[in-house]
Amino acid sequence: MKSVTLTDNQSGKRVEFPLLESVLGSHVIDISSLNKELGYFTYDNGLGMTASCTSTITYIDGDKGELLYRGYEIEELATNHNYLEVCYLLLNGELPTPQEYRVFEDDMRIKRYPNEGIKKIFEAFPDKAHPMAVLSSAVSALSAFHFQHLDIKTHQEYMEMARRIIAKIPTLVAYTYRHSMGYPYIYPDPNRYFSENFLYMMRAFPNGKVKISQVEIDALDAIFTLHADHEQNASTSAVRLVCSTGAHPYAAISAGINALWGRAHGGANESVVDQLEMIGDVSKVDAFIARAKDPNDDFRLMGFGHRVYKNFDPRARVLKKMRDKLQAELGISSKIIEIANRIEEIALNDDYFVSRNLYPNIDFYSGTLLLALQIPRSMFTPIFVIGRTGRVDYPMDGAKTRPKRQNHTPTPTLCGQC
Ligand code: CMC
Repeated sequence: MKSVTLTDNQSGKRVEFPLLESVLGSHVIDISSLNKELGYFTYDNGLGMTASCTSTITYIDGDKGELLYRGYEIEELATNHNYLEVCYLLLNGELPTPQEYRVFEDDMRIKRYPNEGIKKIFEAFPDKAHPMAVLSSAVSALSAFHFQHLDIKTHQEYMEMARRIIAKIPTLVAYTYRHSMGYPYIYPDPNRYFSENFLYMMRAFPNGKVKISQVEIDALDAIFTLHADHEQNASTSAVRLVCSTGAHPYAAISAGINALWGRAHGGANESVVDQLEMIGDVSKVDAFIARAKDPNDDFRLMGFGHRVYKNFDPRARVLKKMRDKLQAELGISSKIIEIANRIEEIALNDDYFVSRNLYPNIDFYSGTLLLALQIPRSMFTPIFVIGRTGRVDYPMDGAKTRPKRQNHTPTPTLCGQC
């Protein structure tokens, strides 16, 4: 067994701690016996160096700009597989065969309907409430409607619950939007694929016609895939922490939704669009770039830079292509996208940004892409919630499955890292 020896400079005592070897990336020191051996606890501000559990789901190499789910490159998954295949991969460790996929998808189609009583919960909220407040309450309320699922004991029950959550959350997100607009709720359509059904629930009106193009479905599906996992970040860790107490899975997911709400996490793409609107015109871009570079001005270019990626965020690369395709096929032109394109052009060639490895991140593109999909800004973070529930993952994770393509073992919890 590989180990690391720590010496206590006070007592001179030397203690060996096991080294947990990762399949990819840095190895990790198991310090669970630290207090017993040396009488100390650890201080790790923001848990930047600490993994609370082992995981074989996601691997990130920030310097190379690489993101893998279960060993598969994110570009490959977002381009050649749909979101539900990716959910299957995250849950089971391998992509589904056509037969496995059919069974998985059919089951999810009939699980999309939440209990009818949940609509009364929406009625209690003011229509101007932030959708994240309404959504987290509605998801938490599902634990009252499905209290029989409190005690998940078997792997089969766990998988059943995961499918329920992935299937129902989009309906609740759409209901949140419909309530905020005063529109009638639209029931899920079991004949439509997951992402198409979500756009349908957002756009349709009873007895009316709804136009949804394939390029829009593909773009939204890619957004869900790209947000499905990102190691042990704040919201994922919140879900795990709450669930580890034996709380209801819906209550745990609700905690994760609240953690995701903040600007340092899921709320970032809203800030990107806020800033683009504030800039207001392409002619003003140079002045704002100058402010971003001024050491005496705390103005930062939203959507640039990343705590982990010191190279192009691989998710941003996929979304940029998607957004360009959407624009070209649907002929969308907007002032906001023009401003975003100009900022990108300048920043990618400017020494200030290049020397600091400040590349556009996922939020730089997802905001403008969602606007092009006619999704209102207040719904951006709820859309992130839909994608992230694809990695529904309780402390039971990994207990029964040994994926063929493992990535790594522990990864640190980075607060605010999306
Ligand atoms: N605009 C201008 N300058 C910047 C920016 C920016 N967006 N980001 C970093 N810098 C500068 C910073 O001023 C510093 O300069 P100097 O070395 O001269 O003092 C240098 O770059 C390093 O900054 P840092 O804060 O130490 O970098 P970090 O890696 O700790 O911060 C960050 C990462 C995301 C907090 C930061 O880049 C930022 O505030 N970006 C804008 C907000 C944003 O886009 N947030 C979304 C993050 S992506 C989340 C996700 O995964 O979805």
